[in-house]
Amino acid sequence: MSYRNLKLESGDGVAVVTLDRPEKLNALNRETLVELAAAFSEVGCDPEIRGVIVTGSGEKAFAAGADIGELLGETPASGWESARTGQRVFTGIERLGKPVVAAINGFALGGGCELALACHVRVASETAKIGVPEVKLGILCGYGGTQRLPRLIGRGRALELLLTGEMIDAPEALRIGLVNRVVPLKSLLPESHALLAKMIRNGPISLRLTLEAVQSGLDQPLPEALRYEAALFGLITGTEDRTEGLRAFLEKRPPRFQGL
Ligand code: COA
Repeated sequence: MSYRNLKLESGDGVAVVTLDRPEKLNALNRETLVELAAAFSEVGCDPEIRGVIVTGSGEKAFAAGADIGELLGETPASGWESARTGQRVFTGIERLGKPVVAAINGFALGGGCELALACHVRVASETAKIGVPEVKLGILCGYGGTQRLPRLIGRGRALELLLTGEMIDAPEALRIGLVNRVVPLKSLLPESHALLAKMIRNGPISLRLTLEAVQSGLDQPLPEALRYEAALFGLITGTEDRTEGLRAFLEKRPPRFQGL
């Protein structure tokens, strides 16, 4: 499929989704959201793709938020619908079942920050600026920011960002756990690929079920979440990859996982 607002490239088991409206700082208009959903559906269905990197084109922005021009035209009903659409698209990314790395190459604001929050890990360039400035526009986050941010960095830090609307720089984002690591801009994609490579050399079923255990577990009380983890542990015991992984260790050789 061809896209107007993003690029989808793949190689060596990794898909790179690049938001590509640099003249609008990769702002997430409706069309881009629809294309993001389609791109993730494409990579989700492709067994050759084991992991995904999301980034922005140009050196200035990952994504500067929802498209403010479009927001002005929203009615209460369409605003609700738009928020639910954005939430669905980002939840689809979170629930892809394959690791997704956000490579934050500049501004990640509003919906851009919310997109990065839906990814599983975040690598930021030293030039990144991250924030949720919706309150400065008289609105609030609608693509999951009020929920994923406190779950990631804690209620107090999240509320400081959500209520001030101020941006923070990459070192501060690292300090509060909003990003996993900070690297020079020129190393952003290589480092993101290297991090993803360390993940996708592991068994794809292990990765899928680990993501499932963490994501679903966070939505449940601890006793139910632990029961779910045990059920998934039981499930993986029936896979060929599990036998291969354990045997390979005992035979002192690298495992050959096949996703079976
Ligand atoms: N929606 C729509 N267009 C946006 C946008 C957004 N979220 N963010 C930036 N743009 C557009 C600008 O309108 C401008 O377009 P123009 O050249 O046609 O006027 C272009 O992108 C470049 O942005 P500009 O503001 O000129 O760049 P800057 O370097 O001066 O400032 C920012 C960069 C990120 C600080 C500034 O663009 C900004 O505050 N953007 C909005 C961030 C925001 O509130 N996001 C949450 C939305 S819910």
